[in-house]
Amino acid sequence: MEPLKGLILSGGKGTRLRPITHTSAKQLIPVANKPVLFYGIEAMADAGIEQVGIIIAPETGPEIEAAAGDGTRFGVSITYIVQDEPRGLAHAVLTAEPFLGSSPFVMYLGDNLLQGGISDLVAAFREHEPDALILLTPVPDPEHYGVAELGAAAPGEVGRVVRLVEKPAEPATDLALVGVYMFTVAVHDAARAIEPSARGELEITDAIQRLVDAGMRVEPHIVRGWWKDTGRLDDMLEANRLILDNLIERIEGELIDSQVDGRVVIEKGARLERTMVRGPAIVGAGARLTDCYVGPYTAIGENCTISGSEVEHSILLTGCSVCDLDGRMESSLLGRNVTVRRGERQPRAYRFMVGDNSDISIL
Ligand code: G1P
Repeated sequence: MEPLKGLILSGGKGTRLRPITHTSAKQLIPVANKPVLFYGIEAMADAGIEQVGIIIAPETGPEIEAAAGDGTRFGVSITYIVQDEPRGLAHAVLTAEPFLGSSPFVMYLGDNLLQGGISDLVAAFREHEPDALILLTPVPDPEHYGVAELGAAAPGEVGRVVRLVEKPAEPATDLALVGVYMFTVAVHDAARAIEPSARGELEITDAIQRLVDAGMRVEPHIVRGWWKDTGRLDDMLEANRLILDNLIERIEGELIDSQVDGRVVIEKGARLERTMVRGPAIVGAGARLTDCYVGPYTAIGENCTISGSEVEHSILLTGCSVCDLDGRMESSLLGRNVTVRRGERQPRAYRFMVGDNSDISIL
């Protein structure tokens, strides 16, 4: 088989993660202090893929290019491909056709995280040489995904793909299509043959159904580890939890009268004073934590300042400042340079300056 290329989809508007995505691409939101997108690029590099195309939108593309660069640091070569409008995953494949040529390729949705990477799947794809390989996993809310129906199978085996439907109102099964796919050149004609869906997009799900209808071999794999589509806040926090669970302890910053428990990373240049960090948690370079408690499943970005406060199960992007909170902050996602503090002046009241589509809960 020809060498596999990689295609990472990093366009889209990220509407479900506003307001963060008003000013930044959703694929660059950090999980355990690393942009989601980088996990996908690394998975490709680990699987031996050398040429990676990244689909970008005109609005967020420059930011993604600046972050991922030419790929050297991941050990791959990156080509950026602009998709003018978010017209669907199959449209993205067609947009990438000049880059992909006739090569087989792995397509990876840039906001997805897959435990254990893709090396095994790439090996299965090479060995069995199907026309396409899809990943499936049972989910509690299949109506939000592409859903697969499989044929009968012998015990311990996976049935043939019978039908794939994008976000069905009444799902026939709970098997969702995971955002990682492997294709041969046949997918291009299939993508050209389909019509836009009800949401006005060329759905990759419909293109794969087309392959099934044409009698081609679409091999289904059931994902064994965890998989996360980080499109919503709760998913983002869960992805952060899952990644932090595998953290390897590393303390390079400075601890003054402070204590860390469990799997904790304190990056170089971070300084903790009279602070307790209970892992799994990560504190970015240059952060200043004074008189704080940082609880499990927290990722604190670079150059954040936290004092006199408790933070748990949260993601703080670069440059945030959290001071003198009365209660504990938890299950929160703070964008870059956000300030949360107790006010000094009377009357004792909440004061906000927040962007469009912000979401604040107060007890
Ligand atoms: C897309 C696909 C869907 C798949 C999902 C996985 O949905 O259309 O079939 O199950 O990714 O994340 P979207 O994120 O565009 O809603």
